[in-house]
Amino acid sequence: MERLDKFISTQTSIPRSETKKIIKQGRIKINGRTASDGGEKIDPEKDEIKLDGNPIEYRRHIYIMLNKPKGYVCSTRDGLSPTVLELVPPALSRKGLFPAGRLDKDTEGFVLITDDGELAHKMLSPKGHVPKLYFCTLRDEWDESYPSKFASGMVLEDGEKCLPAQFFPGKDKKEAFVVLSEGMFHQVKRMFEALGNKVLGLKRLQIGALPLDPDLKPGECREILHKEIDKLLEYFVFNCDSLSKNR
Ligand code: URA
Repeated sequence: MERLDKFISTQTSIPRSETKKIIKQGRIKINGRTASDGGEKIDPEKDEIKLDGNPIEYRRHIYIMLNKPKGYVCSTRDGLSPTVLELVPPALSRKGLFPAGRLDKDTEGFVLITDDGELAHKMLSPKGHVPKLYFCTLRDEWDESYPSKFASGMVLEDGEKCLPAQFFPGKDKKEAFVVLSEGMFHQVKRMFEALGNKVLGLKRLQIGALPLDPDLKPGECREILHKEIDKLLEYFVFNCDSLSKNR
């Protein structure tokens, strides 16, 4: 059982401080009866709560796929730059959202925004071996030594050791795909730096077995469907064929 005002503020973008007013205005109905007290206890699984006649759907957690554009930071708060949370539309917004993992400010692509700390931990932990696929544009051409260097567990310039990763050629020698199962700070950029190269453009295309929805334009979000959520944690074997549609 849960307080009505808490239910409204966690399931919608309405802050707790405003729920009192909305209830007073008679805009909330519980199983067809007009609610009058935010402190009333409801059962989120069983009771039907409506706001202005529209049911408030109960979701214990929410999972949002964002196609992050450049210029946004992956944090909940930043004094200087806009954060990815500012791109979440009110219909999907709720308290406790955070980006699960960080893409750099100039990196684009798939960011998971959720309020489910447990899933985020599983997805980010190197022990979970959840692969993440990146598309990279390079300053210099890659060479035939790159796949084995990525696979052998590269040592970065500061001595940090990476887990084995995968390198796949792109459609020309200045494009490549990289698959990592960990997320060290600036990792893809630092791996190419260790090889004397430089990443000029970076986009995350897939997390686990879930690809970034090609219909999402930069800056757009959509809710991840229930049947897709497990895919976020699934091991996925990338090969040249599975990447060919991205080339
Ligand atoms: N690796 C990087 O260097 N930057 C990112 O944003 C993600 C992975």
